[in-house]
This record gives sequence, structure tokens and C-alpha cells, in this order.
Amino acid sequence: MSKLWGGRFTKKTDQLVEEYTASILFDKELAEEDIQGSLAHVTMLGKCGIIPQEDAAKIQEGLRQVLDRIRSGGLTFSVEDEDIHMNIEKALIETIGPVGGKLHTGRSRNDQVATDMHLYLRRRVIEFVGLLDKLQEALLEQARANLDTIVPGYTHLQRAQPILFAHHLMAYVSMFQRDIERLQDSYKRINVLPLGAGALAGTTFPIDRHFVAEQLGFDGVYENSLDAVSDRDFIVEFLANASLIMTHLSRFCEELVLWSSTEFAFIELDDAFCTGSSIMPQKKNPDVAELVRGKTGRVYGNLVGLLTVLKALPLAYNKDMQEDKEGMFDTVKTLQGALQLFAPMVTTMKVNKNRMRQAVNQDFSNATDIADFLVNKGLPFREAHEIIGKTVLYCIQQGKYLLDLSLDEFRQFSPLFDEGIYPVLQPEQVVNARNVYGGTASAQVEAAVGRAEQKRGETTAWLERYESAGL
Ligand code: ARG
Repeated sequence: MSKLWGGRFTKKTDQLVEEYTASILFDKELAEEDIQGSLAHVTMLGKCGIIPQEDAAKIQEGLRQVLDRIRSGGLTFSVEDEDIHMNIEKALIETIGPVGGKLHTGRSRNDQVATDMHLYLRRRVIEFVGLLDKLQEALLEQARANLDTIVPGYTHLQRAQPILFAHHLMAYVSMFQRDIERLQDSYKRINVLPLGAGALAGTTFPIDRHFVAEQLGFDGVYENSLDAVSDRDFIVEFLANASLIMTHLSRFCEELVLWSSTEFAFIELDDAFCTGSSIMPQKKNPDVAELVRGKTGRVYGNLVGLLTVLKALPLAYNKDMQEDKEGMFDTVKTLQGALQLFAPMVTTMKVNKNRMRQAVNQDFSNATDIADFLVNKGLPFREAHEIIGKTVLYCIQQGKYLLDLSLDEFRQFSPLFDEGIYPVLQPEQVVNARNVYGGTASAQVEAAVGRAEQKRGETTAWLERYESAGL
């Protein structure tokens, strides 16, 4: 059989043009969605009397056979048939004869491909919400196991104030919660049906778009036919959401790499998530963390790539838009890999509590608390800051830490010091003194863990709603 659009042409397509313009090598990924969309479309054609019911039934049966062949690897796609839509249509016609040619009534590849992409991303968004939830579960488990683990908190990568290690982990739980909510919100814009827009202007056939939407589980249909076929915002939005998730993972990776260095030795990553060196026998490298950090680059690249493709594109469909796919598939694969590995990497990570404690004992991260002590004695904070700055400088010159100073030494800097300063400087006290909502005091972190669990409950309910809808 010749090309499905061959009528207007007198010459064969140039071989290189065929290869250059074909998308089948990558859009075959959309085979399931393409058939799902076609099944709904043809059901509607039959129901609306646009084609006879028995033809619709034959086409449905044929599409199912084609799907089986694709699933079993029995269908070879050809570049000559350009893309997944025409490969499937051709296979359908070969399977059931010319009646298969009725499938494309009232439809264009423009609204068809957009529909496929919506169906595809809808599934992925549900999957990624599930994977983020698993990662939160792993973080929460580590947080609960580290509610009494004190570690230096940093700003400028300089020791700042001691915090609970659980508090640090819970920061990531919050970030991933925002990621979950962003994906859930984007679902509203993904779950809209473009089909029925035709090539750009609608169709002359009395189709029922809302019926198709309902069959496919879409919450609504595109308002405007031009917008329906030229909108790729929902893909940009997904790529942006994926970029932010990768940003969060990448920041975490950087910390895991630092913490697992001999210099920090705060954590040890499980052997299963590290690799060795081909030359240095002693090495255990945090490759997974490094690679997730590194792969963040391509995910950003895919976002900028698509934005650039869309910039200045006139309405409605342009072939440029075929470039929306490879980056999206790549981002899906990259994010899947990163999230699947991350949860078990966090679960199996060993936390070196003693080493963290040692670090806290040997720093000045309790300095703010001495300043606050003087403030509580009535000194303006600015003056207290100056005094403690001098106290710290004295310590550095003497090779001491604040807890090593005698009361007489403290009093050299201010007569307001008394014995009460010593308990204030204990790391537990320093941590628990920050007893504000969202702070690092253990009561606050415990409450935060509880609230995060509650949010996870909401995520589970959301996932169940979509999973039970069989989307
Ligand atoms: N392979 C095309 C794409 O991915 C499908 C739509 C083609 N439409 C067209 N008018 N050439 O964008």
C-alpha cells in the first residue's frame, strides 16, 4: 500500500526526507495511547451514526488485534509510514481491509497526536506522584529514626546553628510535597481532550466530543480548536515540574556526596548504591547521587529545548511540534530512574550519629544562644552580638570552644554572665530552644512528621481515586 496521503503527489518522497521527517523511531512509545484514543473515537463515530455501527465494531476488533501484535512485538514499524498514527492505521487496514480507512473520519493527526500526548502524560503524572510519595515515606522513616540526632546546620556551608538531622530531612519532605502538589495541579490542564479539533478548525461531521472525553476519562474538552492542536503548554509545564524535582534531588545529591566524604563522614551510603574505582582499590564512590545530580542538566535542557521550539510558532500545528516528544520521553525516563533509585538509597543510608555529635561539640554553632542569653538579661541584641563576636575570637585564639570557658573568662566580656550560661550552651538545649512552628525543637519536628504523614494520607487518597478510575 502506498502512502496514506499519497493522492496529491506524483513523485516518491526523497529517501533522506523520509528519514528526516519520520517520527516513528521515537513516537512508537505512544502506541498504547494512540489505540486507546482511536477506540474511543471510533466508538463515537458509530454512536453518532457517522459510520455504520458494524463498521465501528470491525474497526474496534481490528485495533485490538493491532494492539496485541504491537504488545507481542509482532508488528514491525516502518519509516515509510512516518509516525505511529499512520503505522497503526496502515496495520489496521491490512488487518481488516478498506473499512479500516473509515477510522480517520472527522479526525486529523493534529488532534490525534495531541490526544496521545495528553493520555501519555496523564499516566506519567500519576506515576510520579506515587514515586514522590515513596520517597517521602523513606525520608520520614529516616527522620523518625533521627529525632534525637543533632548535626551542625549550615549557611554559606559554614556551621551556623545545630539542628536535628530529622529537621534537615524534613526540609526535603516539604520540597517533595510541593512537587506532588504541582503535579496534581498540572493534572487539571493535562486531563483535557483536544480530539474533535480536526486539523485546526473543527470538523464537518456531527461528532460528540464530550462523549469521547467521557470515555477516555477526561474532565473536559478544549474550548478552542486552534488552541487544542497547537497547545503544548501542558508538556512545558510537565518539563518544568520535572526540572524542579530534579533540582531538589540534585541539591540532596550534593549533600549526600559531601556527607559521605571522609571529611564529613556523617553518613555512609549502602554498597549497593555505590561503585568502586578501576585503579584505586580503597574507593567507594557515590555514583548514583552524582549521576542524578548530573542528569539534572538534560532535564533542564529538555525544558529549554521545548520552550525554544514553541517560541514564535504561528498557530496552529507546525511540523516543528514533532520535536516535543524526544525530550519529553527522555525526561520521563530520567526522572523515573532517579526517583526509583532515590527512595531505597535513602532507606539504606547509615547515619553516623556519633560523628555528627562530635561535629556539633567542636564548633561555635551555639554562639547565637549566648547572644540571646545576654538579650534575656536586658542587653540590646546588637551589643550582645558584638560581645559574643569578641568571645568567639578569644576562643579561637585560645584553641577553645565556648563550653570550655570558665565563668571568669565569660565575665571578661560581660558582667551579665552567670552559671546559667552553661545549660543554655548544651546542643540539646540549643536545638530545643527553637520551639517555634517549623523550627528544629524536637517537639516541633515530631509535629512536622505527623503533619507530613497526614499529607501522605491525602496523596494516597488522590492516587486511589485515579488508580480506581483505571486511567
Ligand atoms: N508525527 C506528527 C507529530 O508528532 C504527527 C502530527 C502530524 N501532522 C501533520 N500535519 N503532519 O507531530
